Amino acid sequence: MEDAQFTPSNCNTQPWDVHIVSGNIKDELSRKILEANRNGQHTADFSFDTKDYYARYSERQIEQAIAYQQAMGIDRNDREGRMRVVNLNYEFFHAPHVAFLFMPSFGDNVRVAADIGMYGQSFLLALAARGLGGVPQTSLGFFANQVRESLDISEDMKLLFGISFGYPDEDFPGALMRVGRDSVNK
Ligand SMILES: Cc1cc2nc3c(=O)[nH]c(=O)nc-3n(C[C@H](O)[C@H](O)[C@H](O)COP(=O)(O)O)c2cc1C
Repeated sequence: MEDAQFTPSNCNTQPWDVHIVSGNIKDELSRKILEANRNGQHTADFSFDTKDYYARYSERQIEQAIAYQQAMGIDRNDREGRMRVVNLNYEFFHAPHVAFLFMPSFGDNVRVAADIGMYGQSFLLALAARGLGGVPQTSLGFFANQVRESLDISEDMKLLFGISFGYPDEDFPGALMRVGRDSVNK
C-alpha cells in the first residue's frame, strides 16, 4: 500500500479510499454477497453491461469468457458449473485478503475512475514485486451497499472495484487461462 500511495492522480487529489478485509469479516462479507447475488440484490454505484461492448470489443469479451470456461473445465451449456465459476468472484477466489477501492464522486466521475484504475495497477504491481498476486474484480462493485454497510463506510464513497489478493495458487485451473493481447502493430 505504501508503494501504491505514490500513484499519480489528477491534480494530486489522491482520491482512493482503500479498505482491506481479511479473516472472519471477509468470510462473513462473502456469505452476505453470495446471498445478495442469489436474491438478485445488485447495488452497483456504476453501470456495467457486457451488452454495451460492440465489434472487436465484444469479440474479445467472448473469446475471454470461452478461454476462462475452458481453463476451468466448464462446458458452455453447464449452467450450474458456470454459476459456480461466477460465484468464485464472491468467494474472493479463496484469497486471504480483499481490497475494496472506493472513491469520492466528482462530476461525471470519469477522471476519478482513471485515478482509481491507476491506483489498482500500482497495487497489483506492488503485489507482484513481492511474489503476491491479485485479481481486479468489477463484479465486487455490484454489491456496493452491502460492502458499505458491513464496513461502515459513508454513502459519499462509491465502490469502483475490488482486488482479491494473496500468494497465487499456480494449480488453480483458471490461472492457466492465457488470452494474450493484440500486437502493438496491428
Ligand atoms: C478493472 C478490472 C475489472 C475486472 N473484473 C473482473 C471480475 O470481476 N472477475 C474476473 O474474474 N476478472 C476480472 N478482471 C480480469 C480480466 O478478466 C482479465 O484481466 C482479462 O481477462 C485478461 O486476462 P489476464 O489479465 O489474465 O491476461 C478485471 C480486470 C480489470 C482490469
